[in-house]
Amino acid sequence: MRKTDWFKKMSFYQIWVRSFADGNGDGIGDLYGVYDKLGYIKKLGVDGIWFSPLYPSPNADFGSDISDYRDIHPDYGTLDQFKKVLARAHELGLKVIMDLVVNHTSDEHPWFKESRKSKDNPYSDYYIWRDKPNNWDSLFEGKAWEYDEQRGQYYLHIFAKKQPDLNMDNPAVREEVKGIMRFWLEMGVDGFREDVINFISKKEGLPDGLPFLPAVNGMPYYKDGPHIHEYMAEFRQVCDEYDCFQLGEGPMTTVQSALKYLSGPTKSLDMMFSFDHMMADCMYTEYVHRPFSLVKLKKAFSRWQKALEGKAWNALYLENHDHPRIISRYGSERFWRESGTMLAASYIFQCGTPFIYQGQEIGMTNIRLRDINRYVDVSTKNNFNTYHLKDSLERRLKRIHISSRDSSRTPMQWSGERYGGFSKVRPWFVVNSNYPKVNAAAEEKDPDSILNFYRKALALRKSSKTLIYGKYREYFPGDPSVYMYERSMGSVRYLVICSFSKLPQRLRIPKAYVGKKGQLKLCNYPSGPQLMADNLKARVRQEVSLLAWEHGMLRPYEARVYRFRV
Ligand code: GLC
Ligand code: CA
Repeated sequence: MRKTDWFKKMSFYQIWVRSFADGNGDGIGDLYGVYDKLGYIKKLGVDGIWFSPLYPSPNADFGSDISDYRDIHPDYGTLDQFKKVLARAHELGLKVIMDLVVNHTSDEHPWFKESRKSKDNPYSDYYIWRDKPNNWDSLFEGKAWEYDEQRGQYYLHIFAKKQPDLNMDNPAVREEVKGIMRFWLEMGVDGFREDVINFISKKEGLPDGLPFLPAVNGMPYYKDGPHIHEYMAEFRQVCDEYDCFQLGEGPMTTVQSALKYLSGPTKSLDMMFSFDHMMADCMYTEYVHRPFSLVKLKKAFSRWQKALEGKAWNALYLENHDHPRIISRYGSERFWRESGTMLAASYIFQCGTPFIYQGQEIGMTNIRLRDINRYVDVSTKNNFNTYHLKDSLERRLKRIHISSRDSSRTPMQWSGERYGGFSKVRPWFVVNSNYPKVNAAAEEKDPDSILNFYRKALALRKSSKTLIYGKYREYFPGDPSVYMYERSMGSVRYLVICSFSKLPQRLRIPKAYVGKKGQLKLCNYPSGPQLMADNLKARVRQEVSLLAWEHGMLRPYEARVYRFRV
């Protein structure tokens, strides 16, 4: 069994290395760049790093199509360089977790190259082969089956064509997975983030899905499949030999099915990335957009907070490499600083381990490229070329601007220098044109920057047992503009108040707090009525805010954290 639950107190920084920092001057982020930035990460106040896949990969899906699980992609460095990063991170007190993508490999992985050769070779049963495909769609590229000339059969790919699904029912495949885990654990890594881990067990017979559910029609037969918990128990055992933790990515998971991974006799994972709260402005994927609803967001937050309370532990996030930037979604680019900081407060003080994605802490926003060919992500291209073909080009591009994963994959903006200081040469992918304003160096100097707010918020969380372990309670769940939640333990209570509105909002006080005096521990506006005025229409906003302040109201996108003793 597990020795510790050290991960509960922690917060993590996610690195998508290709766009993080270019250390050797070829325009691609790498582990030399990471090494140089470890001090920056430490200073942010996090306690660990999650590396998105670093392994050799043909990059059909930028690293989630792995061709060798025991090495580092040459673009990013060498195994030795990884070991240096790991050692230095540990010296700084930072844990390091690796991405484990085992639902599928690259079609260029040696296992697949062997498997496709014939129906009776040692690897023939490593993947899912059929003479006749069923009707499943893939999530990334057309049908989920691709015919292979060499073998004369179809293979299953739930994601892109170049990502054939492994056959986890084959015990030899599970042994491979455990071998890979041991390889990295022996080297000293502290755990894994497990990619689409709830998809690895497929229903026997692979039945046809419902015809009227495009893209996800097979999901009922591969999500939380029949043997998932047996397989997870096997992986758990390996983890338990080491003092490490496992975090699963659970697309489309419900609270009820997540609890089976996170608690009780089938407990295998320490945390799970859920998606409910990422659907407050869309249905299933950002590509199917709808107007943002704070009430939906709050419902999702509170559902997970309450259902897991006392039983399991949440993984908290608002951004990662799979979603557009959060300010552009749930906040406002016009109220860039205010909404960027407010969004931080909206989730960091919930119960769970916060994850911060590179660039989120400086308030990076979406890109809006005019030419679809400049986008690089396979699912972005697929969405553009498959759906809404009758719409005008303009409208289709607009959908991409709202939804593309590429918005989170532009180079990190380190400074106001050329290419945002990411590299000395032209980077592999476009730099967001707002880098002269949105960058780490500028924000370092500004006490009221988004970056410094993240630092303060993480430090505040770390300073308080109540904020880490306390009970969660939401107030005024029906309020369409303000999210208010409490964390309590013994006589200590924290009240977190977040306005999601461009307009001043009435500050409602929960009954239990009437007449009590709290201490303001954190606010995203400088104290007193003086205001920030660093972007568009600043003067109008100043006046509106001033009025709000004078009337005891919440200013646009204001966030406050109070501490009470009761
Ligand atoms: C996960 C990853 C995503 C990837 C997909 C297929 O959702 O986070 O980046 O494209 O799995 O591996
Ligand atoms: Ca490089």
